[in-house]
Amino acid sequence: MKILVTGGTGYIGSHTCVQLIEKGWQPVIIDSLVNSKISVLERIEKITGTRPAFVEGDVRDADLLQKVLREHAIEAVIHFAGLKAVGESISMPLKYYDNNVHGSVVLMEAMKQCNVKTLVFSSSATVYGDATKMPLKEDAPTSATNPYGQSKLMVEKIIADLCTSNPSWSITALRYFNPVGAHESGLIGEDPQGIPNNLMPFLAQVAVGRREELQVFGNDYQTPDGTGVRDYIHVIDLAQGHLCALAHAHGKAGYHVFNLGTGKGNSVLEMLNAFGKACGKKLKYKIASRRPGDVAASWADPQKAQSVLNWKAEKSMDDMCQDTWHWQSQNPNGYP
Ligand code: NAD
Ligand code: UD1
Repeated sequence: MKILVTGGTGYIGSHTCVQLIEKGWQPVIIDSLVNSKISVLERIEKITGTRPAFVEGDVRDADLLQKVLREHAIEAVIHFAGLKAVGESISMPLKYYDNNVHGSVVLMEAMKQCNVKTLVFSSSATVYGDATKMPLKEDAPTSATNPYGQSKLMVEKIIADLCTSNPSWSITALRYFNPVGAHESGLIGEDPQGIPNNLMPFLAQVAVGRREELQVFGNDYQTPDGTGVRDYIHVIDLAQGHLCALAHAHGKAGYHVFNLGTGKGNSVLEMLNAFGKACGKKLKYKIASRRPGDVAASWADPQKAQSVLNWKAEKSMDDMCQDTWHWQSQNPNGYP
């Protein structure tokens, strides 16, 4: 199967491309490189022995998309391309709606023109807004607390309408919880530009000496140790979820939504300790005030993905920390 992977040189896309190749499927990447480096391709080749086809371009370029879909005889699309910094989305909402919402509409229109009707879309647990009833099931109410989250919710709604309008579409929205970790080779991993927004890459940069200390955003939440609780999922398990979703979607029409999480929550302090163990260092931290927009706790009910997709997260918290450390210590400054 030939699969167009938008955003395929990014963090989750690159790990998914490795698994697609290992399964014998052929990824064709389109990426503007706005948040990734071209050297990712060599790393994928080092791991798999195959360099994936790559097109540098933007998903908002309708002509280019149609050309790639036709020339490569694409059968299905995984749509990772998007911007994901919550804070930036609040200060630059139009940039986020243009890239994430308009980009998705252009992609689906090009797919329609080329009669490619199978799509897997990167959604996020952020669509559950500030829900308090845990664990989160797919039918929980959705809402958005920032433009990034709103853009994911809008695309989910557009997808639902598209599937209603024409039953030949098969579209799966995967709601990721908190992706962390890296490929066990240490060759590919998460490489945020600038100061990391997320916990795990920040911890990794403290461990490697690029940052002085972690700021723990709040220790007065209604959680066992007072710090925020999240459902961290290894990126390899997450990537595998895309292959299961594709295998399920192929030939099965309609709109499908799945949580991809472990079903377990861990606190910031638990993560700090687990990462300290993996890197063999005591990591400095200080308690800071809560980050605006954060919820106390969020974890998935992953049952639906298990029963319908036959997918289950397998990797442990130790795997997540060890693999992140392996990647970060081998690549202290990220990709060349
Ligand atoms: P990433 O930034 O590493 O990867 C996204 C890739 O898309 C980058 O390589 C970037 O260059 C590319 N891109 C962005 N806009 C583009 C455009 N208009 N045209 C072509 N390429 C473009 O991010 P990631 O962590 O791999 O996330 C992938 C997807 O998963 C995103 O849609 C993100 O919103 C979603 N998601 C991520 C997380 C997370 O914590 N990482 C959680 C939930 C959902
Ligand atoms: C954040 C986004 C969410 C997005 C997700 C992608 C916000 C408010 N939410 O989720 O929309 O889908 O990333 O993975 O930005 N923490 C610290 N210190 C830090 C960084 C984080 O204490 O330097 C804490 C946070 O308060 C939280 C936990 O660590 O309790 C996880 O934070 P993070 O990795 O940013 O993920 P989310 O907030 O769940």
